[in-house]
Amino acid sequence: MEPKLVRVPTEADIQKAFNTAGKGISEATHRAHLGLWQGYANKTNEIRKALAELDTDPAKANQIYSLTRSLKANYGFAYGGYLNHNVYFDVIGGEGGPATGDVATLIDDAYGSFDRWAADLKMTGISGRGWAYLGYDHEEQRVFNYLGDGQDTFPAWNNTLILALDVYEHAYFLDFQTARAKYIDAFFQVIDWNAVNARLHKAVGK
Ligand SMILES: [Fe+2]
Repeated sequence: MEPKLVRVPTEADIQKAFNTAGKGISEATHRAHLGLWQGYANKTNEIRKALAELDTDPAKANQIYSLTRSLKANYGFAYGGYLNHNVYFDVIGGEGGPATGDVATLIDDAYGSFDRWAADLKMTGISGRGWAYLGYDHEEQRVFNYLGDGQDTFPAWNNTLILALDVYEHAYFLDFQTARAKYIDAFFQVIDWNAVNARLHKAVGK
């Protein structure tokens, strides 16, 4: 059976981010970043094809090393990187500023105020080695700022990712060198809260 493949992003997918490039995160950064995002999509598809063609003899599976282990372990990194960038580029290119809509209510409920939430996300972004996320927790019907090192670390089950902050150096070094906090400040200025709300509504079936 032919595997289902993911759509490889194109320059059209970063046009919205270009709209706010003047606020700090440059077009050059977004353009280079697109190449990495495409890499995650291509590797996701490569692994899916390899899995579809895998010899299913169970004697060939092995927890120390086997092709199945290698493909499955790296699938989490490849597809996770693809999904996180889908969300990152979807939620930037907006007006920034305080949250709006239903996500603003959830942020207030979970963190007391937008400023407290933003401070927590900034601290999470500085403390992570690759990612900070806002997730909607279906178990408790609330939001939480999660920390990621790689996209395959510290998964929180039964959550839907509604905002992703990429803090790998490739996301900011060209514009801010090592000043990650300044990059995060710029990120807050370009969040598209309509996109975050759309993701929230999709997550809760609204
Ligand atoms: Fe990235």
